[in-house]
Amino acid sequence: MAQKLRLAVLLSGSGTNLQALLDRSASGTLKAQVAVVVSDRPGAHGLKRAELANIPTRIIDYRALMEKGRDEWERLQLPVDLRELDEAQQILHFPDVSKRLGRLAGMVLAEDEMIRHLNAFQPDCIVLAGFMRLLSPYFLRHYNRDGAWRVLNIHPSLLPAFPGQRGYEDTFDYGVKWGGVTVHFADEGEDTGPILAQAVYPVWPDDDLDSLRKRGLQLEYALYAQCINWLASGQVRFFESSHGRTIVKIIDPNYPRILKDWAISAFSGKT
Ligand code: GAR
Repeated sequence: MAQKLRLAVLLSGSGTNLQALLDRSASGTLKAQVAVVVSDRPGAHGLKRAELANIPTRIIDYRALMEKGRDEWERLQLPVDLRELDEAQQILHFPDVSKRLGRLAGMVLAEDEMIRHLNAFQPDCIVLAGFMRLLSPYFLRHYNRDGAWRVLNIHPSLLPAFPGQRGYEDTFDYGVKWGGVTVHFADEGEDTGPILAQAVYPVWPDDDLDSLRKRGLQLEYALYAQCINWLASGQVRFFESSHGRTIVKIIDPNYPRILKDWAISAFSGKT
């Protein structure tokens, strides 16, 4: 019997991915339980979903902490060296160093608070579900240690195409004929970490952004739950490519059938 994973879900908005996990957890099809939900936005609807399911919630006042980091970074006592962090990070690309250090300081303040909250719940896995903040190497190293990857993200495009905050918009605006959704582990870059699994959907000539997003979101819900189940069942393996990149492989005899089912579901209503 596979062990149930303890999940900490981080979100910023409506939380339909959280809801899909909660529903599957309640029906027994998810080999995991949501232990805590954290948001950077007090008004996030996802927090209400958590409360309705009796899941503890925490709010991190990112706005205030980012301001504090920006204004006080030279005087702050932080648990990490900012310049060393700046060397390691691959998310802030603007040339102004003090602006970067101020931004990183704010992130560390917020992440430190988040880690303290999360520690109380002993999560096995951090699940980013529409969390619209970049995470610094300070947070990621705390969880990605001892050779394990513990921070999962879902991204609404077929990575490495269209990273960033506008996955569906960029997919739609570019005119690609297949869209996709990706679950990957988070690393120091933005949406660059090792890919766990992807599902694709056709883009139809009569689609608009809403219909495309609706099709993609249905796949997101199935994909995220399946990835968490693969992790919980010990069916995820890590390899190194000849370029030194971490490659993830799923060791599940049902893998081809699952991918085929996703593809068929993405055609629903058209054939
Ligand atoms: C989802 O589409 C998720 O893939 C995306 O935000 C949405 C959250 O929806 N995440 C990102 O774009 C991360 N860069 P939800 O709040 O209804 O789950």
